[in-house]
Amino acid sequence: MTTLALHNATASEVAFPPTFRWGAATAAYQIEGAADEDGRTPSIWDTFSRTPGKVRNGDTGDIAADHYHCMREDVAIMAALGLTDYRFSVSWPRVQPGGRGPASQKGLDFYRALVDELLAKGIRPVLTLYHWDLPQELEDAGGWPQRDTAQRFADYTALVAEALGDRVHTWTTLNEPWCAAFLGYAEGVHAPGRTEPEAALRAAHHLNLAHGLAVDVLREQAHPSAEVSLTLNLAAVRPLSDSPTDTDAARRIDALANRIFLDPVFHGRYPQDLRADTAKLTDWSFVQDGDLPIISRPIDSLGINYYSPTMIAAGSHPLPSPWPAAQEHVRFVPAPGPRTAMDWPVDADGLHELLTRLRDELPDTPLLITENGAAYDDYADPTGAVHDPERITYLRSHLQAVHRAMAAGADVRGYFLWSLLDNFEWAYGYSKRFGIVHVDFATQRRTPKDSALWYADVVAQGRLPHD
Ligand code: FCB
Repeated sequence: MTTLALHNATASEVAFPPTFRWGAATAAYQIEGAADEDGRTPSIWDTFSRTPGKVRNGDTGDIAADHYHCMREDVAIMAALGLTDYRFSVSWPRVQPGGRGPASQKGLDFYRALVDELLAKGIRPVLTLYHWDLPQELEDAGGWPQRDTAQRFADYTALVAEALGDRVHTWTTLNEPWCAAFLGYAEGVHAPGRTEPEAALRAAHHLNLAHGLAVDVLREQAHPSAEVSLTLNLAAVRPLSDSPTDTDAARRIDALANRIFLDPVFHGRYPQDLRADTAKLTDWSFVQDGDLPIISRPIDSLGINYYSPTMIAAGSHPLPSPWPAAQEHVRFVPAPGPRTAMDWPVDADGLHELLTRLRDELPDTPLLITENGAAYDDYADPTGAVHDPERITYLRSHLQAVHRAMAAGADVRGYFLWSLLDNFEWAYGYSKRFGIVHVDFATQRRTPKDSALWYADVVAQGRLPHD
């Protein structure tokens, strides 16, 4: 069907199927603020951001974009942009303070109101259950390296599904478990800031298990037509050369970034080479009988977050590294070309490579681009306008790449731009702006940037405007 719709467009047009989902994405800790309102307890990100030296300028998510109080205005902005879908995350400690026991009705009320507001405006809610804000008490009990955390996540999922199961269209269990496991527990640049490579591998497995347990809960409690999904930040892995050492370095990173999630979720096994590569650290006995069938429960779509490709050569990576047991074998080579304000290379071909790989490896799994976008140093000029031509160029090239992949048979159903609003960019605090809507954090004034107006046009037309 996709191919037919694309085929009907004239050759020069980059037109998407009429059913294509056009969205934007956010995450709770990055936008909500209201950190201690209505019974919310601290998450690992509250603790981490308050630890001196962990987040640039000592920024925290205490106020962020104050979305907790500006929610209706923000949904009105989405409606004005014509978005068909909105991807947001639920703050675990807001709806289940402390990570155990009953739900906070006030916490759930916020998300009930958000979902109702979205539905009233004809916008499909795409709910992520875990975008990194683990309740601090669960980290105190061991965090993701502790098996029980997966069960706690299943219980939390049941509370959210009970409250919103009848109204949420798409459920994403986890956002980027790679970051949660490896940036959080191996490199320590994300919360909870631990540098324990073996614990990071355990964390990855327990995140996978948490995903599978949550899928079972959602199948039981969410609406039968609900779509159940998982979002991964798969690496578009490129070896620097075809030498055996460079290709082996790329294989190691492919195992630790991609196949550590794809293989258990879609094939019910962990890769043999990953087990062998990490044998010095662990015997993987934390994988218990019966875990893999749970992890590999069928899901309805896979979410992909993509920003830039990963170029790899043989070498070594400094410690602490997010790559357990691989750091003595790999080095990351800066890709050429233009950069964003994150110093990330702009390279849309990487997205095309990923999508065509998934077309080949998971031909029956519909794909969603659940994040894609760029930070630039944009500002409101004296007239109040925010001109961000580089972001438009970035978005255009990546949407072209999505379109090319679809024309080549990749089953991509939608695109969510990161991000709707400027927000708290994790360890970078407020220094990096990813929004298509500018936020003046001192006044909480929202101003759509030029890229927002451009995107609204794309959504309305279902195609990219001519240059
Ligand atoms: C992704 C995160 C998202 C945002 C973007 C820039 O890794 O999922 O929250 O920070 O990067």
